[in-house]
Amino acid sequence: MNSFENRRILLVDDMPTIHADFRKILAPELGAASALDAAKAALFGDEITAAAPPFELDSAYQGQEGLARVVEALAQGRPYGVAFVDMRMPPGWDGVETVERLWRADPRLQVVFCTAYSDASWEEVLQRLETRDRLLILKKPFDNIEVSQLANTLSVKWQATQQAAAQIDQLEEAVAARTAQLTQANAALQVEIAERKQLETQLVQSQSLASIGQLAAGVAHEINNPISYIFANNGTMETYQGQLFELLRAYRVAEAQLPPPTATSLAALREQVGLDYLHDDMPTLLQESREGLMRVRQIVQDLKDFSRIDTGQEWQRVQLHQGIESTLNLLAGKVQPKADLVREFGQLPEIDCMPLQINQVVLNLVLNAADAIPTGRRGTITLKSGCDCGTHVWLEVKDTGCGIPSEVQPRIFEPFYTTKPVGQGRGLGLSLSYGIMQRHGGRIDVHSLVGQGTTFRLTLPVRRAETAQATHAAHP
Ligand SMILES: Nc1ncnc2c1ncn2[C@@H]1O[C@H](COP(=O)(O)OP(=O)(O)OP(=O)(O)O)[C@@H](O)[C@H]1O
Ligand SMILES: [Mg+2]
Repeated sequence: MNSFENRRILLVDDMPTIHADFRKILAPELGAASALDAAKAALFGDEITAAAPPFELDSAYQGQEGLARVVEALAQGRPYGVAFVDMRMPPGWDGVETVERLWRADPRLQVVFCTAYSDASWEEVLQRLETRDRLLILKKPFDNIEVSQLANTLSVKWQATQQAAAQIDQLEEAVAARTAQLTQANAALQVEIAERKQLETQLVQSQSLASIGQLAAGVAHEINNPISYIFANNGTMETYQGQLFELLRAYRVAEAQLPPPTATSLAALREQVGLDYLHDDMPTLLQESREGLMRVRQIVQDLKDFSRIDTGQEWQRVQLHQGIESTLNLLAGKVQPKADLVREFGQLPEIDCMPLQINQVVLNLVLNAADAIPTGRRGTITLKSGCDCGTHVWLEVKDTGCGIPSEVQPRIFEPFYTTKPVGQGRGLGLSLSYGIMQRHGGRIDVHSLVGQGTTFRLTLPVRRAETAQATHAAHP
């Protein structure tokens, strides 16, 4: 049996005789009907035909009673499929009002008006009810077959309508489920696209830094040799200078014993070359050269560090916070006048690293943070740390400084990229830090908003085994 089959019929009519007629037509006594059929078959040789399934007919004699029946049937989950409603039912509601109220209770109900005449024109009736697709009219006196056909056809229509509605519901549910799946898939795709883009950017950046690193290594190697002998020569020249000055002093003493013409011409020559000035200036020049050479030597050393030559450091298992604290102590003089230092350290396991190098990274980040805070406006530098899944630790250095414009961000890890005035920044801090993080199989990320501040985030593997693989992956 179809789950939507509904053979329930409600008759609302004030005339008891009509109810009796309907009962005979729609819900005859089964036993009597089949006995009659059998007698007819015996007398006239008719074949016994399979009767249509009977209806369940309920009676109401006034509109109000009809409504109560409909409401009760709904509450029981056994709604009526069809209602036959008389047009005139004094003293209560007329047919039109009854149908209006029945439909408010159950809009699915198929309705047949039964009438010999109408109190209002049919046009008005239809206008009042505002719907025509669930309403038929049966004029009295009616034929039995009209009643039974209307009941059959409208029951089937009720059933078909419910089936269609259920199918639409199912379809809508399926569409909603599919839409939800697609939305989810789309969101996942967006995340993947964003991750890929980030990876691509990182790859491009690490490739370009790797080639800059090779270049830097070559330059460092080439410069290193001449710098070494210039440095050595400078030292030798300082020694020679001392010896020459000593000799000059001896000559000066001897000058007093020379005959006057020779002594006069020598004094004139001394005046001409400005020997006194040379004597004062030469040591200063050699001293400045030495300082300049030492700076060049430091830059070459930094370039070597960036490109992984001569790192010369031991791997150790250490507690990161200790190194950070000693670095912060070193920097107190530089940071305190400009910013408050806030520590939000989490619980970290001991990690495998080259501690001096990691301290160097922290130092660079904190110095940059302090530099980013405009003079005269006290800022905050926050150091935060934590552990991801036990395999990685992270450290963030966050400042409330000037921020880095997005178009500049891709360049800040390049060696010699600096926005600081000449003499104040060499543009090596971040490139060195980048190299150090690469060597540790970690990473360094930046997030910055102009006018609001910058956060650098370091991520480091806890164990070196993962490091080796990661480093290998980053530098095939
Ligand atoms: N926290 C920060 N806030 C704003 N800008 C920053 C920050 N950190 C780095 N930068 C920008 O990145 C550039 C490169 O930084 P990096 O540390 O490599 O070099 P530097 O600080 O200029 O010089 P060095 O570190 O060699 O003394 C800086 O000049 C600055 O423009
Ligand atoms: Mg710096």
